Amino acid sequence: MNYNIAVLAGDGIGPEICTGAIKVLNKTGQKFGHTFNFEYLPIGGAAIDACGTPLPDITVEKCLKSDSVLLGAVGGYKWDDMPVDKRPEKGLLGIRKAMGLYSNIRPAKLWPSLAAASPLKSELVKNGIEIIIVRELTGGIYFGERGSGKENGEEFAWDTEKYSVHEIERIARIACELASKRSKRLISVDKANVLASSRLWRKTVHEYAAKHFPDVEVVDMLVDNTAMQIVKNPAQFDVVVTSNMFGDILSDEAAQVTGSIGMLASSSLGDGTRGLYEPIHGSAPDIAGKDLANPIATILAAAMMLRDSFALSKEYDAIVASIEKVLKSGFRTADIYEEGCKKVKGSEMAQLICDNI
Ligand code: IPM
Ligand code: MG
Repeated sequence: MNYNIAVLAGDGIGPEICTGAIKVLNKTGQKFGHTFNFEYLPIGGAAIDACGTPLPDITVEKCLKSDSVLLGAVGGYKWDDMPVDKRPEKGLLGIRKAMGLYSNIRPAKLWPSLAAASPLKSELVKNGIEIIIVRELTGGIYFGERGSGKENGEEFAWDTEKYSVHEIERIARIACELASKRSKRLISVDKANVLASSRLWRKTVHEYAAKHFPDVEVVDMLVDNTAMQIVKNPAQFDVVVTSNMFGDILSDEAAQVTGSIGMLASSSLGDGTRGLYEPIHGSAPDIAGKDLANPIATILAAAMMLRDSFALSKEYDAIVASIEKVLKSGFRTADIYEEGCKKVKGSEMAQLICDNI
């Protein structure tokens, strides 16, 4: 089969980690008899520099015509002082919205070979951790009304968190589907003791699950308590569903608990099979261009694309097995390095993963 993949490499380490993932995709294609065609399109700071906007129309048009999209990272010091509507991040939020990608799945898994990289005590992680965060991605405070002004000579600014029943139901469906294939226990995270939007969230998730997934038990957890529980007892979590902003925050925490944010990938999907796949980390401008960045999160994102957009599960398994093998052999990029291991550059890590497919 032939697949057309739009590549939004973006800023900072984005281009180097995408190069690693593309290498792995090409090798996987050779092995399994697929052809992947890549088209590079501008986004983020790179697009601001080249086209004057973080999300050029051509990027949106071509992404909507592609079979799926691979994204590196956006942002950097250079554009930090730009107004919020012109910042690189606006490109990422814009493409998520334009493609209708309301469902963001962020699996935080502790790789057995990397147990020592977790900052938690070994007794807390000895049975493994796999927290799958299902984050609502096109609603809530990220896309609500906002504004600023002056009142009695003082500046003020505001944002709004707003969720409708259908927005909550469609993300609840994704989370319930996942939970019913796994532990059948879904933790729904909100702040219903304070926020009206959270109270609607809680009620809607329960009603939806009771009606369509009676086998799934929904457990509510307040977001502040969740933040604590993730470091106190991460093994209690399986599938977690939450709003856009809470998912943003908790997924960074869950990632760090599993050792390194350089290991975590995410998929963003809407109603069809075309998705956007990206590492959950940022553009790390401090290490960009030094070949230090860990490409594994982006390689895993590419593997998720094969499985979730193209239904190529064997190919996904082959990439994950190769990563496991390389880690088991003791190869580590700087972010996951520990005494006694072999330290490699980002490009070497990608090559090793290719060689083991
Ligand atoms: C993420 C990032 C983005 C977000 C930023 C870069 C806009 O933090 O994907 O987690 O907040 O969604
Ligand atoms: Mg984030």
